[in-house]
Amino acid sequence: MATKLTWLGHGTWLIETAGHRVLLDPFLNDNPAAPVKADQVECDFILVSHGHFDHVADAAAVAKRTGATVIAIFEICQWLQGQGVPEEKTWAMNLGGACQQPFGRVKLTPALHSSTLPDGSSGGDPGGFLLSLADGNVYFACDTALFSDMELIGRAGLQVAVLPIGDNFTMGPEDALEAVKLLRPQCVIPAHYNTWPPIAQDAAAWARDVEQQTDSRAVVLEPGQSYTLG
Ligand code: NI
Ligand code: MN
Repeated sequence: MATKLTWLGHGTWLIETAGHRVLLDPFLNDNPAAPVKADQVECDFILVSHGHFDHVADAAAVAKRTGATVIAIFEICQWLQGQGVPEEKTWAMNLGGACQQPFGRVKLTPALHSSTLPDGSSGGDPGGFLLSLADGNVYFACDTALFSDMELIGRAGLQVAVLPIGDNFTMGPEDALEAVKLLRPQCVIPAHYNTWPPIAQDAAAWARDVEQQTDSRAVVLEPGQSYTLG
């Protein structure tokens, strides 16, 4: 089964790989761009990049309903336990660390952002995820500014990079284009835009810039659409 990445709007993704379903940054019920609600999604793992509501909103509810294991930085795992997620269904990490999971290898990469949880608790440091899957390496930058260490992340050899282009809260189109030049992925997919007016962007124009100025292919998805690796 080929690895399939489905954009559920904003920063939320469903990754289907090696017979597993991995939900990244579940924000569905209050996400105006989400094509499904939180009670309609099935998964056996959940990744959470940082503590903001538009990334953790439905994490506890989906984890409790599905029994999925949540993989996140230590502080977010602790907070989710306080929301009723069993400790044995959390997998705590910290920046720079990697772990082997049944669906592939997960590395928690740095992000330049903030990470306060919805109730004001500290979410620790924000992160992104470098996933080494059966069909290649996929990097989710998640919410971040541009940073030059993306060049180091790119040395893994990326089949896909998923980058925010919304601006205001994260990198905008110009910096995301610089990020593509540092990461050098085979394919780049934009995310974290058009959810609300402050992050409205012309993704098609950005994709043309990427393909004119880099060797990467740019794929623009609509929420609900998928990209299959290979
Ligand atoms: Ni954020
Ligand atoms: Mn966000």
